[in-house]
Amino acid sequence: MARNRHRSHNLYIMEDANISPAEFEPIVLGLACNWCGYAAADQAGMAKIQYPTNIKLARVMCLGTVDPYLIMNAFHKGFDGVVLIGCHIGECHYVSGNKNALSVAERMKKILDILGLQEGRLRIEEVSAGEAPKFAKVVKEFVEELKVLGPSPLRRTEAKV
Ligand code: FES
Repeated sequence: MARNRHRSHNLYIMEDANISPAEFEPIVLGLACNWCGYAAADQAGMAKIQYPTNIKLARVMCLGTVDPYLIMNAFHKGFDGVVLIGCHIGECHYVSGNKNALSVAERMKKILDILGLQEGRLRIEEVSAGEAPKFAKVVKEFVEELKVLGPSPLRRTEAKV
């Protein structure tokens, strides 16, 4: 089925709500901690390591600062998936922020399942500043997984970052 997607700043408009699986391109919110996940994305950019442009990356100081509301709001706005990318366990710059985020993510996954959104739409990954190739791999894998899951049931005609 024909699809026309316009891109303007942070606004995405899907003119055809019935996207065929072959045409579906997930819109992903990436929340990356300043010290590891975001630094890895930066390194990937500098090293010209390619990864899907489906991800809209937002920097947070630590994954421990990510409020569950932010995650739910992303789904509410039509994102197909959310990935949290932070320091390895034991290396959080705020001691236990990533451990707390892991526990929040596990609870959020259960809630997503109860809501019929599928837990696979939320992912949390440990990526250090020096692991740019891993950052790219995580994004590629997640986008592929979301293509299999299909569009979020909450996807609307537009999704804003
Ligand atoms: Fe990176 Fe806490 S500073 S997860």
